[in-house]
Amino acid sequence: MNDVIWLNGEILPMAEARVEVEDRGYQFADGVYEVIRLYAGRPFTIAEHLARLTKSAAAIHLEVPLPTDALRREVERLVAQSGVGEGMVYLQLTRGVAPRSHAIPGAPGSTLLFYARPLPELPPVDETPAVKLLTVEDERWRRCHIKSIALLPNILAKSAAVAAGADEAVFVENGLVSECSASNLFAVIDGTLVTCPVGPKVLPGITRAVLLELAGQLKIPVAERALSLAETKAAGEIFITSTTREISPVDTWDGAKVGVSREVTTRLHRALKQRVASETR
Ligand code: PDD
Repeated sequence: MNDVIWLNGEILPMAEARVEVEDRGYQFADGVYEVIRLYAGRPFTIAEHLARLTKSAAAIHLEVPLPTDALRREVERLVAQSGVGEGMVYLQLTRGVAPRSHAIPGAPGSTLLFYARPLPELPPVDETPAVKLLTVEDERWRRCHIKSIALLPNILAKSAAVAAGADEAVFVENGLVSECSASNLFAVIDGTLVTCPVGPKVLPGITRAVLLELAGQLKIPVAERALSLAETKAAGEIFITSTTREISPVDTWDGAKVGVSREVTTRLHRALKQRVASETR
C-alpha cells in the first residue's frame, strides 16, 4: 500500500500533507464528507456518493470545487496510486481557510481532500457476528440528511454503546427510531422490510437506497415509515447498513435478544454482493 492523499489538487505522501489551523473544518466542523467503498480497487456507487456530496455541500452553501466527472477521475487516480484493493475512500470538503469568525466568509474557499484505507472483505451474513445495539436519546440537529463532519452527538452515542458492551447506538426521539450513529436501520415486520423515510433525522444512506432497490427486484414488500422503538425491537429480523459494514444483522438490543431470523437479511446481502460483483468487475 502507498500511503498517499489527494489534497487540493495534488497527490502527496500522507506524512507530508498539511492543513491550516484556521481551516473552518478544524475550527467549526464547517464541512461535509463521504465514505466510498472500494472492491478490488473499484469504487462502488461512486456516482451516488458524489451526488450526495454535492447536495450536502449545497445545503451548507458550499460548492464542490471540481465538476463531478473530474472529481470522479481524481478519486480513481488516487485509488490507483494508493494500491488499496478492498477498502474505502474518505473524502472531506470544508469551507477552507479564513480568520475565525462564525459568519460564512464573503470570498468562497474550500479544502478538499481524500485518501484510501484498506478494510477487510466482509463475509456472508450467516458468517457475520451479529451486532448489539444500545438505545440513545437523539440529541442531534434536524438536518441529519446533510452528511456533515460535525459528528459530536454521533461520537458520544457510539462511545456510550461501546462503553455498554454494544457495537452501535440507535437514535430514538419521542419513542420513534430513526437511524444509528453511523448506519441506517431496517426491520422485517410481518414479511415487510421497513425503514424510516430519509429526512431531518435520517441520512439518505447509499447502501439503504441500493437495498430498497434490491428488495423491489426480489419482490420483498417495502415500507418507508416511522418505526416505534417497541415494534422495531419486536421485529422478526433487524439489520443495519452502511458503506463500510454493508449489512450487519442485529441480535441484541439494550441487552435483550431480538430479531431471531436472518432470512431476508441473507437474501438481501447475497443480492448486494451480486450487485457489487457486477459493478466492480
Ligand atoms: N457513515 N447514517 C449515518 C448517520 C451515517 O453516518 C452513515 C454512514 C449511514 C449509512 O450511509 P451509507 O450507506 O451511505 O454509508 C447512515 C459512514 C460510513 C461513516 O461515517 O463512516
